[in-house]
Amino acid sequence: MLWSRRSFLAAPAALALEGGTPVRTKPLRPRHYGPLYYDDSEWRMLAEVFQARSPFRFAGFEKPPQKVATLEREWAAKMGVKYALAVNSGTSALQAALAGLGIGPGDEVIVPAWTWHSCWHAVVLAGALPVCAEIDESFNLDPARVEALITPQTKALMCVHLQGNPADMDRLLAVARKHGLKVLEDVSQAVGASYKGRPLGSMGDIAAASLQVNKTISAGEGGMVYSNDGTLMERAVRYHDVGGYRPVHQEWLGAARMDPMPGSNFRMTEFTGGVLLAQVRKLDRIVGDIRSVAKRVYEGIADIEGLKTRRLPDPAGELGAGVYVDLGTKEARDRFLAAMRAENVPAAGPSGSVVLPVQPYAEKKLTVHPAWPTFNSARGRAVQYGVAACPRTIDILNRFGGVLLDPGYTEADTRDVVAAFKKVYPQVRVQSARPSA
Ligand SMILES: Cc1ncc(COP(=O)(O)O)c(C=O)c1O
Repeated sequence: MLWSRRSFLAAPAALALEGGTPVRTKPLRPRHYGPLYYDDSEWRMLAEVFQARSPFRFAGFEKPPQKVATLEREWAAKMGVKYALAVNSGTSALQAALAGLGIGPGDEVIVPAWTWHSCWHAVVLAGALPVCAEIDESFNLDPARVEALITPQTKALMCVHLQGNPADMDRLLAVARKHGLKVLEDVSQAVGASYKGRPLGSMGDIAAASLQVNKTISAGEGGMVYSNDGTLMERAVRYHDVGGYRPVHQEWLGAARMDPMPGSNFRMTEFTGGVLLAQVRKLDRIVGDIRSVAKRVYEGIADIEGLKTRRLPDPAGELGAGVYVDLGTKEARDRFLAAMRAENVPAAGPSGSVVLPVQPYAEKKLTVHPAWPTFNSARGRAVQYGVAACPRTIDILNRFGGVLLDPGYTEADTRDVVAAFKKVYPQVRVQSARPSA
């Protein structure tokens, strides 16, 4: 923003960073959403598992345990898919989902350059090659950058919905369909959000979600795999249970279609399942609360001159976990963050993910064994990661800053967030737009 007439007429309030009075006296701190909503219902679930002495989902002390199995049914219904499988983390959900898709050595999987470590790790642990695509100003995969990365080996596209914001699914699905790619949606950071009325995770071939403590609902750890495809799910079920396919899943997914293959143990306990069952029943309430907090902030800052927010492919479907704005330069963004924090408002750059191509394990192409197939193909040897693989991603992440929200913020809290935005943003932008002396 350039100097405006208004900037000359109204002297801006002094920033707390420069000795002015902060908007808030006490720092506002976002909390973990799920535990914020813990009450008697989670407690009762734990007590029932304890009293039944049945912590293992597949065999009870007396009666057949039901918590994890019920969670799977309710999750599938809520997410608008036929089947769901509970696992012990989001990372294992990704691994089981890739196994479901039959991804392995020789395959390539396109992942966003900015996402959580687990997306890369799951692909490498499957023996496949991760190929990083740049993000756009939604912080998610840029559909325009995906097509150029597709080779005859590309088997799947990992659409990750980051920081509560749905990825541009119509365009990503169109690219995937055109090239016959499978789509894995990673919903970990946006559980409860939707895209054009469809729950996230219901649009691709298979979905993975984390229920770790930073996510919308949580038992500390946990994950879900879900899909409409019984064959993909049977593979995922077997992968999560040392190759097994037990009656509870056979009854749901149908008779065995394949022989047992070696798998891991990603099973969820009944204690975890009980807490998550109580939490999934509160998901709509939590999502409603966080969305109304975000709505108050978006509406409050809408009249800030020159304000450019993160791109939202479906504003109505966004979770509202944070409100992010473009500050134009890294210098202005860093000053914005420092100034907002001095006002006692929790500001941060895009967070909860990492720039994958610059991770040392990526640049060095590390694996658990030197003969691991991932980087030993001609293409695996040729592919280069590092800064040169994602300059646009790095630029976007450097320019944007925002405020983290939690569903328990009061109206007074959101008024403070808005007041801090209104105080800080114009001053930072004005200062960064001044020609240097
Ligand atoms: C996008 C994304 N995928 C996967 C994961 C992995 O989940 P977990 O920590 O439950 O293994 C996370 C966790 O932060 C995540 O943010």
